[in-house]
Amino acid sequence: MALVAMLLALAAYLLPLLFVSAMPSFEGMTTWSDSIGNLVPGMSHLEGLGPISTQGQPSHVPFYMSIAAPRGLPGNVTIYRNKSPPLFYIHQNQLWHYHNESTILPINVLNSTQAAGLPLQMVAERKSGGVPGGRWRWQGTMLFYENGQQNNQGLFYSCEDPNGLNGLFLFLQCSPPPSGCTPFTIHSFSSNRLT
Ligand SMILES: *[C@@H]1O[C@H](CO)[C@@H](O)[C@H](O)[C@H]1NC(C)=O
Ligand SMILES: *[C@@H]1O[C@H](CO)[C@@H](O)[C@H](O)[C@H]1NC(C)=O
Ligand SMILES: *[C@@H]1O[C@H](CO)[C@@H](O)[C@H](O)[C@H]1NC(C)=O
Repeated sequence: MALVAMLLALAAYLLPLLFVSAMPSFEGMTTWSDSIGNLVPGMSHLEGLGPISTQGQPSHVPFYMSIAAPRGLPGNVTIYRNKSPPLFYIHQNQLWHYHNESTILPINVLNSTQAAGLPLQMVAERKSGGVPGGRWRWQGTMLFYENGQQNNQGLFYSCEDPNGLNGLFLFLQCSPPPSGCTPFTIHSFSSNRLT
């Protein structure tokens, strides 16, 4: 029951987004060229929407996908009302954090709890790794993670449980939210999302 209620609540947040995604916006969009002049895919801030976000309200302060570490260093992925959010993009099915020309960190999906039934954790690391075979993609504005036949349905959980999960997590199968966790969908509202 709780899960159904939560999914319905999420659906209510997502409906208006179908319209938002139809309107191209260049806000928060950046492109750059690498050292040999190839165009590298566009990147943007990634906004988290969910039951606790205030989308559409006058006092809206957006949640952004962030990294719990000083700028440019590896760390657990988090989501909060970051006033200077980091940049991300997808290239060849991998999600990357762009810090500067020499520091681009892969966002890996780790089985950090090593327990069946618990979600996987997103971590920015220096090298690609973690659970093998994962693919990141955009569906409209929404970020999805898939692995084999399974995917996360676009759902992410921000967890701040002092005795449990801490960070940003995802499930590969439909599961009720773990305690201390809040559901989010994650969006790029930039018009040049590439995969
Ligand atoms: C990129 O950021 C890292 C970490 O902050 C820093 O050590 C490095 O000097 C920066 N590189 C460039 C080209 O700015
Ligand atoms: C990052 O996540 C791991 C695994 O969940 C946790 O053990 C660690 O304390 C976290 N690190 C920080 C700095 O929050
Ligand atoms: C995570 O590790 C546990 C213990 O090895 C395993 O039971 C579970 O299936 C793993 N989860 C995923 C998604 O690989």
